[in-house]
Formats: sequence, C-alpha cells, structure tokens
Amino acid sequence: MRLVSTATVEPGAILAKTIYNDKGQVLLSDGVALNERMLKRLLEMGIAYVYIKDAKTEDIQYKEAFPRELKVKAIKSIESTFHQIQVDATLSRSFVVERASQNFTDIIRQLHEEIKNNGDLLSILSDVFTYDDYIFTHSFNVTLYSLAIGMELGLPQKEIETLGLGAIMHDVGKMKIPTDILLKPGRLTDEEFQIVKQHPEDGFRLLKDVHTISLLVAHCAYQHHERINGSGYPRGIKGNEIHRFGKIIAVADVFDAVTSNRVYRKAMLPHDGLEILFAGSGTLFEEEIVNAFRKAVAIYPVGITVELSDGRKGIVSEQNSGKSDRPKVKILEKDGLNVTPYELDLMKELSVVITGCDTTFSK
Ligand SMILES: [Fe+2]
Repeated sequence: MRLVSTATVEPGAILAKTIYNDKGQVLLSDGVALNERMLKRLLEMGIAYVYIKDAKTEDIQYKEAFPRELKVKAIKSIESTFHQIQVDATLSRSFVVERASQNFTDIIRQLHEEIKNNGDLLSILSDVFTYDDYIFTHSFNVTLYSLAIGMELGLPQKEIETLGLGAIMHDVGKMKIPTDILLKPGRLTDEEFQIVKQHPEDGFRLLKDVHTISLLVAHCAYQHHERINGSGYPRGIKGNEIHRFGKIIAVADVFDAVTSNRVYRKAMLPHDGLEILFAGSGTLFEEEIVNAFRKAVAIYPVGITVELSDGRKGIVSEQNSGKSDRPKVKILEKDGLNVTPYELDLMKELSVVITGCDTTFSK
C-alpha cells in the first residue's frame, strides 16, 4: 500500500485502508474500488490523503498504531463531558468536570500503557480520517502527543497523568464559544477571533476550583497558547513563567492543528508539521520539547513515498524506534529509473537522508 494525495488518485484505484469517522463507523471499506463520486466526496470531507493498493508495494502493511475501540471510547467520553459542560449552568459545570476526571484518568492510564507497550513510534495519521466536531478528536490527539512527549522526557507516572488530564481538557473553555463561531469553516473575523482567544482563561476558571484535579491541570488550559518569547495569549507570559506542561501541550496542539484534515484547508503531512515546530523552536516552542516530539512521533508514516539525497526513491516500509527521520525504505527507483525493489535501512546508511516526499498517485 501507498499513501497518496486524494486529489491525484484516479478512479479505479483500490483503497488499502478502511476510512472511519470519529464514531468508529465505516465510511469506505478496505478493498473498495474508488469511483469518481467517492473521490469527490472524500475531498469535500477534507480527506487529503488515502492509502491505495498497488502491486509493487503489496508487502508493505499498515500496522494499526492504536486500538480503535480505545480511541473511539476516549473520543466519546470527551464529547459527552464537553457537551454537558456546554449545556449546564455555570454552577454545575465544575461538578461535571469532577465526575469526568476519574473517567479521564482511567483513559489516560490506558493510553499511557498502550504507548508504552507499543514500543513503536506514534503514528496517528489516518487512524480516523474524518469527524463532525473537530474539537473532540483534537483533544484526544493532543493528549496522545503530550503523553508521548512526557514519556520521551522521562516524566514519572504521576506527572504523566496530570499532564494527560491537562491535555485532554486544554480546550474545555471552547465550550463557551457560540457554536457558529466554533464550527465556522474558514477564517474568523477579528471580532470572532477575540472571542475564541478567551477560551484559555475560560478553561482555567472552570478547572481551577475542581478539587479532584490538580491546579496544574487548570494552568495547562490557561497556558497552552502562550509562547516562550512572550508572543502568545492570553497573558503573554514567557520562558520559565510558562509551566513545562503548558509548553508540551502547545507543541502537541500546533502539530495536530496543522496535520489534521479540515474541510477548509489541506492537512500537512507529519514532516511538514514538524518543520513548523522546528521553525519556532527556541522562539515559540521549547527546543527540548520539539526534539522530544521528533523522537516520539512517526515523521514519515509507513506507505509514504520518500526521495533520498542520492537519487533513490522508495516507500517507507517500517519505522525505526526513536529515529523518526531514519525509517526502513523499500527502494523502487534510482535517478528516475525503476530498479529491482530492495529494502534500505536508513539507520545503516547514515550518509543518505530523506530530502522530500512524493504523494502523487501513479500506476
Ligand atoms: Fe486552544
């Protein structure tokens, strides 16, 4: 299978991986021949990349990075908690959070276990390709990324759990934003953006008095849009004024925002998302955290076509743990000419680097 840009796929191509929505329902099954109507619909839904079967890459299999049931369960529980907060009167909101916090802690423990046991790089691209309400899937993804960073930084179990709670609820203040603004596709007006910018403080206020959770969780919500050079919001605090957890969630938040499928713009691939983080490393984001993120997350997902510095080209076939920029690659071409396919482990040929990705569909 290969990962290709949906816009370049020709009708008749065979889908290699089932596409689900955020409720865990099947939208299109593995093995289906994509027709023009399906391709158009996928693009309308903001699905920028799909896995396609082809003869040359039959042996490359996508390994499920994460049990789907756990993911669906977690997203459902975020959704129901956030919805209750949205409809409940102010007074009982903290009660909702109080009740949800035990459930969230259980989920975080399970996610933590999963990442630990998996041993592989975190790759959540394509696990859920589409959703109605972005915020719930986003909260889940940010939690997963934050946990992976925390683990890479060697945080103890208790801190990991607090960080996870902070991540799962970092955007809870958004439940106070009117839905027409929250779900608006495309650019916000200045006025709307001002309203959106209140969500860190609203989240803080909601979480700070919940006595079953650490005050630090409230600060995660408060600080996740702050930047280390002081250019963030709401307070414009900088450097060590921002808690390490706030800095971790900031990195996870930005990466997920740019790499997620949204109807109004094309999702970036992980390596492009990482470029955004590196561009801000040391100014917007803490260098140590960006580096930890790079080590923990699959930058070149299995199935993506990569170009190498020596003119070779091939498909990523397997990840190398802790070395996200040096996966194993099944080489198919050299200087534009087909070669007999063979596997190249980039960990063993350190003089060669990945210089680019090609996601155009070809037969
Ligand atoms: Fe946010």
